[in-house]
This record gives sequence, C-alpha cells and structure tokens, in this order.
Amino acid sequence: MVYLAFLLFFSLISCFPSSSHAQNAELKLPLRAVNLGNWLVTEGWMKPSRFDGIINKNLLDGTQVQFLSTKLNKYLCAENGGGTVVVVNRASPSDWETFRLWRVNESYFNLRAFHKQFVGVGSGGVEAVSNTPTDLETFQIVSKDDDLSRVRFQASNGLFLQVQSETLVTADYAGSSWDDGDPSVFKMTIVNTIRGEFQITNGYGPDKAPQVMQDHWNSYITEEDFKFISANGLSAVRIPVGWWIAQDPTPPRPFVGGSSKALDNAFTWAEKYGMKVIVDLHAVKASQNGNDHSGSRDGFEEWGDSNIDETVAVIEFLAARYGGRPGLAAIALMNEPLAPGVTLDALIKYYKAGYDAVRNYTTNAYVILSARLGNTDPRELYSLAGSMNRVAIDVHYYNLFSDSFKSMTVQQNIDFINIRRASDLGYLVSANGPLVLVGEWTGEFGRGDASMEDYQRFVKAQVDVYGAATFGWSYWSYKCEENHWSLKWMIDNNFINLQ
Ligand SMILES: *[C@@H]1O[C@H](CO)[C@@H](O)[C@H](O)[C@H]1NC(C)=O
Ligand SMILES: *[C@@H]1O[C@H](CO)[C@@H](O)[C@H](O)[C@H]1NC(C)=O
Repeated sequence: MVYLAFLLFFSLISCFPSSSHAQNAELKLPLRAVNLGNWLVTEGWMKPSRFDGIINKNLLDGTQVQFLSTKLNKYLCAENGGGTVVVVNRASPSDWETFRLWRVNESYFNLRAFHKQFVGVGSGGVEAVSNTPTDLETFQIVSKDDDLSRVRFQASNGLFLQVQSETLVTADYAGSSWDDGDPSVFKMTIVNTIRGEFQITNGYGPDKAPQVMQDHWNSYITEEDFKFISANGLSAVRIPVGWWIAQDPTPPRPFVGGSSKALDNAFTWAEKYGMKVIVDLHAVKASQNGNDHSGSRDGFEEWGDSNIDETVAVIEFLAARYGGRPGLAAIALMNEPLAPGVTLDALIKYYKAGYDAVRNYTTNAYVILSARLGNTDPRELYSLAGSMNRVAIDVHYYNLFSDSFKSMTVQQNIDFINIRRASDLGYLVSANGPLVLVGEWTGEFGRGDASMEDYQRFVKAQVDVYGAATFGWSYWSYKCEENHWSLKWMIDNNFINLQ
C-alpha cells in the first residue's frame, strides 16, 4: 500500500519536467551512444569466424535449401506449401520447393516446409503434414565426399528416400550409388542462411557451445572498450540482449547461460567510466522480425498475443536486476518489431505491460518503445506514449537495404540525410510527444565505392542531423568485421571524431 501510494505520488510529480529531471540529475540528454552489437546476441555477419569450429557449418538451423532429383531433373516440392504430399514435379524452384533446416545434430535434420509442416515418412509416402518433428521427420543428410551439392536422405528406418515417380517419394531404397540415374540422389542448393544465437549455440552443440560463448563474452567486449568509448566523446552504450538471459544460468537449449554476468560487468564498467546503459531486448521468444538478430531458429516471425506474458517476464527480470543501478538509462522493450506480422494491438498490449513491469522497479529509468518497421505511421505509438512517463521512441535510420541508396550518388546519399532524415526526425520531435532516440545508424551506406572523405562527410551529416534527436542516438556498432560498421575502427582510422 505504502509502495503503491509512493508510486502514484511519484508519477504525479514527475508530470512536471523540472521534477522529473531532478529524479535523475546525472542523466544528461541527449545521449551519444554506441551499440554493443554481436556481443550478447550473435550476428554472424559481424564476425563470421566465430562459426568456423562448427561441423557442417553450412547446415545450420534456418538454412533454406532446395533439392533437385537428378533422376527426374525436377525439384522436390511440398504440395500446396505443406499439409499434404511431397512431390517431385517442379521444373523451377520457388517457395513450395524451399525447405528450412532444423538441425538435430551435425548430420541429422528436419525439413520445414513453407507452411511450417515438417517433411516426414507417412504410410502412403513422403508428406509434409506433421507440425512437430519426430523420428519419422528426422533424416540423416548424407553427402558425397563432403560435397554438399549432392545428397541423399536416410530415414529413421535406415533406408533412403527415393523418387518413385513425379508424385511419389518413398523411404525404402537400399542402394548407394551417386549416379545421376539413382532415384535417391538430389542436388542441394542453399538459397539463404541465418547466423544468429540459435544457430551458433545449436551448431556447436551442448558440449562445446558453453565454452565458445563464454570465451566470446569475455573477449569481445572488455573494460578497455568502456574506457575507450568514454574517452572518445560518448556517454552511453546500448546493449542488445536476448530473452534467454532471463533464465540464466540455465536457459533452455540450445541457449547458453552466463550472459547476465556479462551484462553485470557492463554496468560496472559503464558506471566506472561515467557512462549510461540502455538495455535493449533485441531477441524475443518466437521472433518479432524473423532476422538472425532476433534469436530465431528458422526465420519465421511468430511473436504475438500468446508471447506477451513471457516477454514481459523478461523485462521484469531486467528491471529487477538493473532497476537500482545508477548506470541504467533505459530499458528498450523490443527491438525492431516488424509490421504487419507484429500487430499494433499486440504491441500496445505488450508495451503497456512491459512499461508497468519496469515501473515496478524504477521510476527513474526511461522506457523505450521501438517504432514498427514496415509501412507504418511513424507516430503510431504517440498516443500510447502520451499515457506514460519518461518514455522515448526508438527509430533506426540506415541508407541501406534498398536499391535506391545504391543508385544514388554519394552527394545524394548525404542530401538524403540532410533533407529527408532531418524532416522525418523533425516530424517526430516536433509533436510535443515522447523523446526520440535514433537507436541505430551507421557509417556504411549504399555506395561501396566511396572515398574516405565521402565517408567522413556522410558520417558528419548524420551526427549533425541526429543531434536533434531528443533522447539521443546510438551508432551501430562498436565492433564489426565490416570496417565502416565499426565505430572503433572509424575512430581509430580518423573517419569520425566525436570529441
Ligand atoms: C544425431 O541424432 C540422431 C537422431 O536423433 C541420432 O541417432 C544420432 O546418434 C545423433 N548423432 C550424434 C553424433 O549425436
Ligand atoms: C507490478 O506490481 C504489481 C503490484 O505489486 C503487480 O500486481 C503486477 O503484477 C506487477 N506487474 C508486473 C508486470 O510485474
């Protein structure tokens, strides 16, 4: 009761800007931050060599593959995308001819069809009807001399799949040739891969993954990095975390325990060097965008109403553990929810509950609500934010991921920042609404052929324009094998000076 009255009192007085500032005198806005990407949530493209020790590292969870029967010269197809028989009668591959791997171990796999059923051995032949994989849906992928372009599938009965006709595949072949005329031989093509936390942990498996992850956490970001970041004109870090952190030290397989200890260290170092931390729930269970950085197993975006409670529980864990830390600037409730898969209704329900969970532990920390990616109204969260206290909206600005940036000249890319981004940001900050964070942007842009001076001008334009963001901005990322994505490299090589 006393606690509730206290909360009520607090939220009343903090409606007044002066008193809300007094609550957290040391939080100097806007923040200038850098993301500690690929630290506690794996993104393979940022450091591909971490996957090198995985056996069959080309066959990770979520890899999308197509199979051409060499005998029929036709593609394997889950008819209707799943829910019925598997046939071998398509001349060219598309969605129904593409399967997503679930890795059981280095040589055993399940194959998930377009509509999510698993390929399995049925009484009348091979089909894609089961929604959960059992032994009947598990196949050993056997390749010729480790050449993955030619494979055969051994079913759990010990026999191989064979094409009987264009409309019938059975699991009853005992032959073993690799001839084109062999009914069990398929050419395999990998059409898409995903390299996130699920892939690396399941790829190394339960014996090796704990050590691999621990070594990475210990070495990728250290106290020296916090010292460097603070000495180079930045005031905060944004740290992506995954939902499994809430079940430390024993998260469900294949995830590995220990990430909360690493995050504890980050707080200690941030506080030591006078910096703030934005904890960013980047990967939620069931995936809010299908990307590898959402912790997804196979790229399906499935987060919705039924995941709200468990996701709020992750926020509650973070708020309980870090709500009292002087280094905590904000908790971001969900990174990059993607519309229309994530509906505005579900997101608002979740944001309300997540906000309450944070407020149960801290009245000081900001709560960050990410705008939905996709074709959405950039102010769609403003009326929700209006009912909350100390909130900021997170937007991400990249001159990438669309061919239009490639076809622009360097100057047009810079103009895009100065004109278009400035006006987008102006639209958000001028509404007398929540504060605004440009939570991700980077020095790389659509032109791989730019000169050092071009990059300097491109980055400078962004620092100037995003300086108008009322909560602040955060560069993606601190360390990355791709130089222009690495703020550390950009600073060390004089591409950017933030002092
Ligand atoms: C891989 O999984 C299969 C199917 O469950 C099992 O039979 C096999 O022993 C496993 N192999 C290894 C190396 O764990
Ligand atoms: C916040 O605290 C209230 C009161 O103790 C409790 O009823 C509620 O479940 C908590 N909410 C969350 C999301 O933790």
